[in-house]
Amino acid sequence: MNYNFDERIIRTGTGSVKWDHSEELFGEKEMIPMWVADMDFRAPQPVIDALKEKVEHGIFGYSKGSQAYLEAVSSWMNERFDWRVETDWITHSPGVVPALNLIVQAFTKPGDGVIIQHPVYYPFTKVVEMNGRTLLSNPLKEEDGRYVMDFEDLEEKARKGAKLIILSSPHNPVGRVWSREELNRLGEICLKHGVLIAADEVHADLIMPGHRHIPLASLSEALSERTITCTAPSKTFNLAGLQTSNIIIANQELRVKFRKALEQNFMGSINTFGMVAAESAYRYGGDWLSQLISYIYENYTYAKDYISRHMEDLKVYPLEGTYLLWIDCRKHGLSAKELERLVHKEAKVAFNQGYGFGEGGEGFIRMNIACPRSTLIEGLERLKKAFSGKKESLS
Ligand SMILES: Cc1ncc(COP(=O)(O)O)c(C=O)c1O
Repeated sequence: MNYNFDERIIRTGTGSVKWDHSEELFGEKEMIPMWVADMDFRAPQPVIDALKEKVEHGIFGYSKGSQAYLEAVSSWMNERFDWRVETDWITHSPGVVPALNLIVQAFTKPGDGVIIQHPVYYPFTKVVEMNGRTLLSNPLKEEDGRYVMDFEDLEEKARKGAKLIILSSPHNPVGRVWSREELNRLGEICLKHGVLIAADEVHADLIMPGHRHIPLASLSEALSERTITCTAPSKTFNLAGLQTSNIIIANQELRVKFRKALEQNFMGSINTFGMVAAESAYRYGGDWLSQLISYIYENYTYAKDYISRHMEDLKVYPLEGTYLLWIDCRKHGLSAKELERLVHKEAKVAFNQGYGFGEGGEGFIRMNIACPRSTLIEGLERLKKAFSGKKESLS
C-alpha cells in the first residue's frame, strides 16, 4: 500500500512528550516541536492491525518474549544486515537507554573508565556519570566537512584502562553511518586493549540512499564475542512509547550477566503491546520503511536546500543516517544561550540545543525532520524569519 506521510495528525492532548510539554520544557506554548526523536507519522498498517487484534483478545497479562517475536528479530537482522543472529542471543529490555544503564552497572565498577564519542546522544553521558564511572571523552573531529573518529585519541583512552565504550552507530546527532574501515579500526583497538563494546544501533534501519549500516558485531567472530548490540523497532517504526528493545549478545557469559542484571532490576517481562508490534513490524514493515526513508530523504534535501538559500550562515551536515539534522549555527556568533533564545522564543521551534550533546556541540542545533513536509516548511520559515531578524538588528 501507499502511505501518506504528508498527513498532519494532531498529537496534542495525547500525552505526547514532543507535543504536550513545550511550555514546561521551553517556556513557550505555540511551538513547532522538532526535537525529541519520535516521528509525526502513523506506524505501518500491519502493526496497527496486529495491535487491534491484541486489543480484541482482551487479556493483557504478563508476557515474555515469544518465539515468534525472537524469530522476527533474528530474520530482520539476517535479511537486512546479513548478520546471523541466533534467537537465544536476544534479550528484550524496556528500552535501549535502560539497557545501556544496566550494561554500565553490570560490566564496570565505580570509577572505571567508559569511553563515549562527543558530541553524542546526551543519556550516554548520564549513564556513565550517574553510575559514578569515569567519563573518557573521545571527541569526534571534523575532516572535509564531515565527522570522523579520532583513533589516536581512542587508543590513548583505551590504553589508559577504559573498560567499556558506548558506540553510537549510526551516530546521533552527527548523522554518520560508520564505514566498515572505521568500525574495523575501532574494533581492533577495543579488542587489543580489552575494552567491551556496547553498540547502540537503534538508528540502524534509518539509512539514507548511498549508505549501508554494518552491525559492529557482524564484522568478526572476535568482535561478536565482545559486543553487546542494542537495537529496537522504536525509532524505525515509531514505536518508542511501547518501550520494547532487543539486546543481542552472542557471548554466553556476557548474556547471562546481562540477563541477571535485568532480573535484579525487575525488568524481566516484556510490554505485551511492544512485543506484538515489534514482531509485526519486523515481519511486515519493510515496505512502509522504504517509503518512509524516501520521504525523510526528500525532507532532508528540501531542508538542506532551503537553508543554503535562505540561511547561508548555517551549515547542515550530510545526513547519512537517522532523521536528525545536525546544523552548525556558529557563524552567527551567538552564544549558546542567545541561540537557544532565538530559536525557542523568537522562531518558536523546539530544537535540541547542541550544547546538550557535550563537548563540540555548542553553537549547533539538532532538527528532527521526521514530520510532514508542511510542518518542516513551517519550521524552516520560522527559523529563517528569526535569523534574518537577528541579522537586521545587528546591522
Ligand atoms: C542513540 C539513541 N539511543 C537510544 C535512544 C532511546 O532509546 P530507548 O527509547 O529505547 O531508550 C535514542 C533515542 O533518541 C537514541 O537516539
